[in-house]
Amino acid sequence: MMQVPTPTDAPKPTKEEFRIIGDSETMQNLRRKLRRVAGSKADTVLVHGESGAGKELAARAIHEWSDRSNAPFVEINCASIPESLLESELFGYERGAFTDAKERKLGLFEVAGHGTVFLDEVGEMPAKLQAKLLRVIEYRRFKRVGGTRDIEFHGRIVAATNRHLDQEINNGAFRADLYYRLNVVPIIVPPLRERKSDVPLLVEYLLDKISSSLGVDRPTLTPDAMLDMTKYSWPGNVRELRNTLQRTIIFHQPKIITPDVLEINPASRAAVTGSAATTKLTPARDQQALPAGSEDFVLPLGGIDLEDLEKSMLMQALERARYNQTKAARLLHVTRHTLRYRLEKFGLLTATV
Ligand SMILES: Nc1ncnc2c1ncn2[C@@H]1O[C@H](COP(=O)(O)OP(=O)(O)O)[C@@H](O)[C@H]1O
Ligand SMILES: [Mg+2]
Repeated sequence: MMQVPTPTDAPKPTKEEFRIIGDSETMQNLRRKLRRVAGSKADTVLVHGESGAGKELAARAIHEWSDRSNAPFVEINCASIPESLLESELFGYERGAFTDAKERKLGLFEVAGHGTVFLDEVGEMPAKLQAKLLRVIEYRRFKRVGGTRDIEFHGRIVAATNRHLDQEINNGAFRADLYYRLNVVPIIVPPLRERKSDVPLLVEYLLDKISSSLGVDRPTLTPDAMLDMTKYSWPGNVRELRNTLQRTIIFHQPKIITPDVLEINPASRAAVTGSAATTKLTPARDQQALPAGSEDFVLPLGGIDLEDLEKSMLMQALERARYNQTKAARLLHVTRHTLRYRLEKFGLLTATV
């Protein structure tokens, strides 16, 4: 007999996305710990780790592997929005709470229900909101901005930081009481350089993902190229590894990836080899945003390939903007139209839609 599909038969979002790759002992331990925390009663968790190491992935795993996984996972980056906006995103507001508050809006603590609120870069949270967050954690209730009624919070808070918050406490930037409350269950995601044996598995996994998302044939790495990948220190961790493979595929569309097409940290490589094929613009600080105008680019003595320079800047802007073309265009001080025109010129447009 044919089965009538019921809403519960509807395909759930695949758990594939939340796979945490890595067979090293550190990663096996981490996965075990994430599963234990996921299944526990712990209602706050603090994930420590360098940028790109996999903190957000860990937070998602805690959600997906818990009995909260049918409720929402909501996330916010505390570093990327201004204080007033962060407050209303978290707590919501009542109609008329301020001039633009035309309708009531629910905040993330309310939207999450029994689910998980992921507070990324919690170390950047302004002092006033740190105090409010502590209240949510301690009393499991909060008020909407402009509201008088207490609303109960039933979710779990997973916060993440790439800073040493104990140092931030010493210099007064982070509340000690909030830190100790969040850090009852600490999770440490180790940097990639401390688990180099995971690199080959990550490479294979990411090659699958990237090539299918770009719609290109999946390339393979020669043993030499894989050796280069394992030797490199990956200061930007798994994110840098992913971006490296992405760049290599987009620029060279290789069937076989040899060491000479591998776009590992093109900046430092160009500096070492003096090669004009790759550009020497971003020092190892690659991952950090530089204040505008803090650097003048100096034409290297041997000159530079202007097209490669442009391609490199386009790709870096896209990567930094997480492939949001409007944001990438802003970084390059051009319109989105101009950005698209230039991407098309280099055959890079399909990579970004
Ligand atoms: N162990 C892993 N297995 C598979 N993908 C990973 C792993 N660690 C990180 N990634 C991927 O690397 C990128 C950066 O990870 P993310 O969790 O956003 O890092 P963080 O939040 O620490 O900056 C994401 O695309 C993520 O899916
Ligand atoms: Mg992150």
